[in-house]
Amino acid sequence: MKPKIILTRQLPDSVETRMRELFNAQLNETDEAFTKEQLIDAVKKADVLVPTVTDEISAEIIAEAGPQLKLIASFGVGVDHIDLKAAKEKGITVTNTPGVLTEDTADVVMSLILAVPRRIAEGDVRARSGQWKGWSPTGMLGRRINGKRLGIVGMGDIGEAVARRARGFGMSIHYHNRKPVHPELEAELEATYWESLDQMLPRMDIVSVNCPSTPQTQGLLSRERLSLLQPHAYLVNTSRGDVIDEAALIDLLSNNGIAGAGLDVYADEPHIPDALRKLKNTVLLPHIGSATIEGRQDMGQKVIINIQTFIDGHTPPDRVVEAML
Ligand code: DGY
Repeated sequence: MKPKIILTRQLPDSVETRMRELFNAQLNETDEAFTKEQLIDAVKKADVLVPTVTDEISAEIIAEAGPQLKLIASFGVGVDHIDLKAAKEKGITVTNTPGVLTEDTADVVMSLILAVPRRIAEGDVRARSGQWKGWSPTGMLGRRINGKRLGIVGMGDIGEAVARRARGFGMSIHYHNRKPVHPELEAELEATYWESLDQMLPRMDIVSVNCPSTPQTQGLLSRERLSLLQPHAYLVNTSRGDVIDEAALIDLLSNNGIAGAGLDVYADEPHIPDALRKLKNTVLLPHIGSATIEGRQDMGQKVIINIQTFIDGHTPPDRVVEAML
């Protein structure tokens, strides 16, 4: 008997086909996100649920799971959408897809680090507008990237990949993490460790948030902390919206408290506050950090390996232990 796998969203064709070959996989033909009722129905029937990062797998939903549900093999690296404690108590293993979206996400971070100070999105709008009057010595001036200090909040795999890229652009690397990275890596990146985020923030030209959303990091960039940033500083967030106090960020951006922000994630996706959408000193992306064809296929392969390993009676390679900053 093939185990029953329920997918909450459409996945790449190759991944869905392989899942159908290996498992009794129920696909979502419409790609519309499951409602709460559909999620409850799925946890009652599935042996393995394959949700994505937009499915809220709350304690309430987990409480409805039938005894056959033994694995939640999430398609995505963040697990803040799953109540891990409730899953653990119910004896449900949770896996994710780390590693395979590191480089793609770091590329988007770097794009935002370049795009906001150099006003790339604004320049594109102007070039298309028909209103461009030609080159001028004082036209569309931004800020230089080379020689600036980058403060990375959360030096995991993505933070490290960002640091490597930023080094190539002549930036100096600073970071805040629960603990310093290996001395060899720190030396290679010529990185400076700040145990205190409060001490690091006012000294940075650009800050990139790369920590996962956990109970420890939610609200980490509070109103008070954000106010430590210099008026010339830029903030980039590709992690999760709830790591930053979004209302406080909007206030700062509106009042020239900081120079600009590049955001790929928001506190209440897909809702982006009007006030944020109206701001000119921002580049806003629709959560595309990991959105490459290759990345999605690799994520799918990871989900398949996690499921197959689990079914074979082994510990899946990406079993989740609560990630912390
Ligand atoms: C994840 O996998 O957590 C990402 O946010 C999706 O891009």
